[in-house]
Amino acid sequence: MKKLAVLVSGTGSLLEAMIQDGLPVEVVITDRTCRGLEIAKQNCIPTVLIPREFNQTFDRDLFTRCVTRVFGLYRVEFIAMAGFMTIFTPTIFERYGGRILNTHPSLLPLFKGHSAVEDALAAGVTETGCTIHVATERLDDGPILMQESVPVLPGDTVDTLHERIKAAERTLYPAVIRSFL
Ligand code: GRF
Repeated sequence: MKKLAVLVSGTGSLLEAMIQDGLPVEVVITDRTCRGLEIAKQNCIPTVLIPREFNQTFDRDLFTRCVTRVFGLYRVEFIAMAGFMTIFTPTIFERYGGRILNTHPSLLPLFKGHSAVEDALAAGVTETGCTIHVATERLDDGPILMQESVPVLPGDTVDTLHERIKAAERTLYPAVIRSFL
C-alpha cells in the first residue's frame, strides 16, 4: 500500500482510528503540540512538528513549503488531514493536488469553516454529519468522496454533537482512505 502522511492539530482520535485500521502511516505532521503528536509517538510513528505563529508574523507560504518538503523527505504519496487547523497556500497542490484528503464535520457544502458543528446547532438542523473529500485550494471544497449523516438530538451541545460526528468519521475516514490508497 502507498505511503501516507497524516496531518493533525488536535486530539488525534481520527489518527488513532487510522492506526488501528492498519493504514500505512509513514509520518505524522503537526502545527502545534497536541495529543495527536503523543498518539503518533506511542505508536512509534515518526513525527514532525512545524510550529506556527498565531499572529501577523505567520508566514503561511513558508509554512506550506516546509510541510511539502516533509512529504518529499518521507516520500509519501497520499496525505490525510485529520483535524489539521492551518490553511495552506495553493503551492502545495502543484505537486500533491488530488492526493490530499480531508474530513469535515458537516454535510458539505453546508457549514464550511472551523465552527461547522456550532453553526449546525445554531441553524437548528435536525441532522448533520461528516464529509470526506479531496482537498483543493478552496477551503472545505473539492470532490466529495463520501458522506454520513448523524442526527442532532434534543439537548445536544457542540461537544456531544461533535463526538457523535467523530464516531462516524472514525469508521468512514479510514475506509475511504484505504480504498483511495
Ligand atoms: C474531526 O471532526 C474533523 O472533521 C475536524 O476535526 C476533528 C478531528 O478530531 N476537522 P480528532 O482531533 O481526530 O479527535
